[in-house]
Amino acid sequence: MRPAGDFGLDSPAAPATWMLSGAAALVGGVVLWFVAPLWSIPLFAWTALMFAGAAVYVHASLRGKYAIWADLLDKASLADGERALDLGCGRGAVAICVARRFPGADVTGIDLWRSVDQSGNSPDTARRNAELNGVGDRVHFDTGDMLELPYPDQTFALVTASVAIHNISTDEARRRAIRQAVRVTAPGGKIIIADIYRRRVEAYAEELRQAGCAVDGPTPAGWNGWFTGPWLATRTIVAAKPR
Ligand SMILES: C[S@@+](CC[C@H](N)C(=O)[O-])C[C@H]1O[C@@H](n2cnc3c(N)ncnc32)[C@H](O)[C@@H]1O
Repeated sequence: MRPAGDFGLDSPAAPATWMLSGAAALVGGVVLWFVAPLWSIPLFAWTALMFAGAAVYVHASLRGKYAIWADLLDKASLADGERALDLGCGRGAVAICVARRFPGADVTGIDLWRSVDQSGNSPDTARRNAELNGVGDRVHFDTGDMLELPYPDQTFALVTASVAIHNISTDEARRRAIRQAVRVTAPGGKIIIADIYRRRVEAYAEELRQAGCAVDGPTPAGWNGWFTGPWLATRTIVAAKPR
């Protein structure tokens, strides 16, 4: 399910912060255990919460995401020669899954390569991952902003975005990214999004509807998409652009 290669960790500072917070509470709890044992209990509880949250996060980023996309790609189809675009592709995880699923399709990933959003992302790393999976000839990586997509209207039969659009800082800019996705999607094509932050994902669905798309979702993707817990759950949208 997960392609071969090294795909880094999404927003690595988040689980690192929880691990540090858990470790600090653990040290405090152990010290308190010898002077005031009752007071150490909340610290041990905090440690457990932080470590468990970090573990669930790492699972979602390294494994769970791929299970979610395996299901989502069942809802797509690409004929030979058709093109797909992955917005905020990072190290190429979803672009490579699309290329493997549709062996006649040509796939483009676009990214600004912000390492704060995914550790070690770069066009070279993404290309190396594509080559490792035998799809290097059909997956291309461009440097660019999903707010100003450098492609003509109606170019792609499928546009995907995996935990990427939420990284854009304002509601208006995120809606703009959605409008750009609609612009480059061919009539009858699909836009498939998996992302976190409930309100943001609801706004994507609203923007897609306003653009005339038939929208299925947002749908919770289950525990595989919990970036710490159900309060930061992945939700999915499958939208079809009218013909
Ligand atoms: C959390 S990572 C997810 C990467 C990939 N989609 C995956 O699921 O493995 C988010 C990615 O979005 C990219 N990104 C953030 N803002 C962007 C923008 N405005 N345009 C293009 N890419 C962007 C980041 O550089 C990062 O690689």
